[in-house]
Amino acid sequence: MKYYAMNDAYMQQDRIKASFQEVPQSFEWRDSMEEVVAETAPKDCGLVLISSKYEGHLYETCETFAADRPNMTVVVLDFDLDLDMRRLMRSGVFDILSHPVHGRDLNNVIKDFEQKSSIMMTMQLDEEEEGIGQSNGKVVTVCSTKGGVGKTSFVVNIAASFEKKTKRVLVIDLDLQFGDVAMFFNKKASKTIYEWGKENAGNRRKVSLEPYVSKVSEYIDFLAAPKRPEFSEAIEDSHIRKLIDQAKAEYDIVLVDTAPFMEGVILTALEKSDQIFLLTMLDLPTLKNTNRFMETLESLNMKDKVKIVISRDLKKKMLKDKTAEKILHTSVYMTIPDAAKIVIPSVNEGRPFVRDYPKAKISKVICKVVQDLDPSEEKEPVKKWMHKPAMAGRRT
Ligand SMILES: Nc1ncnc2c1ncn2[C@@H]1O[C@H](COP(=O)(O)OP(=O)(O)OP(=O)(O)O)[C@@H](O)[C@H]1O
Ligand SMILES: [Mg+2]
Repeated sequence: MKYYAMNDAYMQQDRIKASFQEVPQSFEWRDSMEEVVAETAPKDCGLVLISSKYEGHLYETCETFAADRPNMTVVVLDFDLDLDMRRLMRSGVFDILSHPVHGRDLNNVIKDFEQKSSIMMTMQLDEEEEGIGQSNGKVVTVCSTKGGVGKTSFVVNIAASFEKKTKRVLVIDLDLQFGDVAMFFNKKASKTIYEWGKENAGNRRKVSLEPYVSKVSEYIDFLAAPKRPEFSEAIEDSHIRKLIDQAKAEYDIVLVDTAPFMEGVILTALEKSDQIFLLTMLDLPTLKNTNRFMETLESLNMKDKVKIVISRDLKKKMLKDKTAEKILHTSVYMTIPDAAKIVIPSVNEGRPFVRDYPKAKISKVICKVVQDLDPSEEKEPVKKWMHKPAMAGRRT
C-alpha cells in the first residue's frame, strides 16, 4: 500500500510528515495526480492527500482519478471552507480534513482507510478465487487398484497425443511417493508439487504454476512428484483442490497420474475430475479389487464419470471382456493391447510411443481415447520436442 501527498504551496509538509512518522507506512510527495496514476496499477490500493486548492480544479481531478484508480483513496485538506461536499463525496473522496490539520485526525483517517482497504482486498481475492473455478480446462485422472498396469504409460502418451491438437496439457504426478512421470519424459524437474505446496498452498492469492512445472515440449508441461517419498506427507487434500483449480485455469487438459491405491489426495483428484480412467487387468484378483473400487466411487457419486480400461490384453487371457463386465457391472470402454516391444523401449528412452510409432495398434488406441476426450480436429504435428537422449542402461 502506498501513501502519497500532493506537493503544493498550501500543504503543510512538516506537519503532515510528522503525522505520518507515527504510522509505519512510508509517505511520498508527488507534484501531480498524473504522476501517481503513472506509477500505480489500476487495482492498486493507496491513499492520496490533496489540497482543496489543487491547481484550481479539484473536483475534475478527483473524478478522473477515481475512474483511473478506483481502489485508491483520496483525502482532501480543506483550505477553502466553501467546498461542494456532495460533489466531492460523489467523486469518491474518502474524507475531508480541515486546515490546520492535526496529526491525530490524520492518523484516524489512515486507520479507517486501512480497515476499508483490507476489506476491499479480501473481496478482490474472493473474486479472483471464484475466477479460478470458472476456468475451462478438462481434468482427467488415471487410476488403478494394482501397480504396474500401465497408468503412467497411458498418461504420458495421452499427453503426447494432445500435442497434435495443439492443446496445452499439464500432467500432474500424484503418485506422490514413487512418481515417475519425469522419467517417462526423460526430464529432471527442478521444482515439484512439494515446492508448490510449501510455497503456495496457504496463500489465498492466485499464483501461476509456471515456476513449478517442467517443460516437455511447446504444449506439454508436467508437475513432478516430490523428490523424496517422505515429502509426500506435506501435501494435503486442500492443496490438491487448489492446485487443480489453478491448473484448469492455465491448461486445456489436466492429466493426473496416480498411485495404485485410494487415499485422500487421490480421492480429491477423482472428485475434481471430469473423467476417470480406471485401468484394470483380466485376472480375477485385480477385477475383484477393481469392483470394490467402483463400489466406493459409486457411493461417492462418481461412477458416471468412470471409464473402464483393460490394460495389457495379452490375448492369452483366461478371462474375457464379458466376464470383466459382469464382475464390474459396467461396460469396458477400451482395451490396451500388450505391446512390450514398443512400450518397454519407449519407457527406457523416455519418449512417448505415440511419437515414434504412430501407426502401431497401441498408438491408435491412445488416439481414439484422445479423440473421445476432445473431438476437435488434429492440427499440424508439433515438431519441437524438448528432449535430451536418454542415458543408456538407465532402466531395464
Ligand atoms: N501396454 C503395455 N504393453 C506392454 N508393457 C507395458 C504396457 N503398458 C505398460 N507396460 C510396461 O509395464 C511397466 C509398468 O508400466 P507403468 O509404469 O506405466 O505402470 P503404472 O500403472 O504407472 O505403474 P505404478 O503403479 O507402479 O505407477 C512398464 O515397464 C511398462 O513398460
Ligand atoms: Mg505409474
